[in-house]
Amino acid sequence: MKPVKIGLLGLGTVGGGTVNVLRRNASEISRRAGREIQIYRAAARGKCTCDTTGIPLTEDGFEVVNDPEVDIVVELIGGEEPAKQLILTALANGKHVVTANKALIAKHGNEIFAKASEMGLMVAFEPAVAGGIPIIKALREGLTGNKIEWVAGIINGTCNFILTEMRDKGREFSDVLAEAQAKGYAEADPTFDVEGIDAAHKLTILASIAFGIPLQFDKVYIEGISGISRVDVAYAEELGYRIKLLGLARRTELGVELRVHPTMIPERRLIANVDGVMNAVLVKGDAVGPTLYYGAGAGAEPTASAVVADIVDVVRTLTSDPENRVPHLAFQPQHITDIPILPIEAVKTAYYLRLSAEDKPGVLANVTRILANHNISIEAILQKEPHAGETFVPIIMLTHKTLERELKAAVAEIEALPTINKSIKLIRLETLG
Ligand code: HSE
Repeated sequence: MKPVKIGLLGLGTVGGGTVNVLRRNASEISRRAGREIQIYRAAARGKCTCDTTGIPLTEDGFEVVNDPEVDIVVELIGGEEPAKQLILTALANGKHVVTANKALIAKHGNEIFAKASEMGLMVAFEPAVAGGIPIIKALREGLTGNKIEWVAGIINGTCNFILTEMRDKGREFSDVLAEAQAKGYAEADPTFDVEGIDAAHKLTILASIAFGIPLQFDKVYIEGISGISRVDVAYAEELGYRIKLLGLARRTELGVELRVHPTMIPERRLIANVDGVMNAVLVKGDAVGPTLYYGAGAGAEPTASAVVADIVDVVRTLTSDPENRVPHLAFQPQHITDIPILPIEAVKTAYYLRLSAEDKPGVLANVTRILANHNISIEAILQKEPHAGETFVPIIMLTHKTLERELKAAVAEIEALPTINKSIKLIRLETLG
């Protein structure tokens, strides 16, 4: 049988890893795919990260997607443009696509999948979420018998590395960020990592596949980790919690919660112990219960592992009837339902509050009265020693679950008290039980 011809767009970290894995494991891969897979040509600008001997190169990606000989286009250049035009052109030319582009799928996936379905083609995107962890496959196929209740993921390695270093070594945020950049974990623009945007791209995709809803990146509540300080990490630890940047998608009776923010998680949970640059996704299905997926969320060969798995998936289905393929977003396109996404004010969760209060009688009573007036129940309180020469003391409170709207209203009232310093620190807390 003729080899399947791949047109590769991008020979950076992931592109180079893909070439190396395809070559090193060629015989194993073709035994699985049933066909030989040939890197027919590639488009790349700048320095390639692999040996390109025998691969015809061009700087123009459109030459690749317009080449009639190419069967599958593998897009590994990232960013919205020209990636989007390249993929749409490849589809218009009848080519299947594999992409690692999380931003593109999260923001333009609905349009891309509609075009692919119209053409009877596949767009596979396992490497777009959590690098080498086969979470798309697990959610879309392995858990297909379940009603998914929620998905919670540590899906940005850079933030996890920073928070781990802050906890283990007591380092400051900015210091660790500089190291993460130097080590190449962070995106080209590190604000994508630390402000939660990268995680929100990935969460958008996970939520869509979990619940059968359209991709809605613009409705994700996003809060990054740049406001987390060493003291909060230390107090969390003292109370038996870890702070993680969590992407959380939860189905409720009122709609879907879709949020990325620093989250306190009980340290006894396995996911709370996922450290450094590693990623993990916890999925709760009604039949299976909780399942946890762990592995490298970035890097050349871990991500290439997902790229190659997608290529093999596409090769295996080349001869199948498009109607009978696994749908792009797990649910049949005509059964994608537009369930409302809840605004953050309508989310119900527990909270960690850190306030700085004057150390005199009645101060705490005023604070607890305001919380009680908003129907907010306190789970734990911790008062720390004042710093030398200071009359204000740090007070840490954990609340039971409450509506964010009520919590914010209570916090505004507490901040208005003359005995309380402004800027109460608030971190959401999830037990993930
Ligand atoms: N910058 C991303 C991270 C890379 O830190 O997880 C993988 O998407």
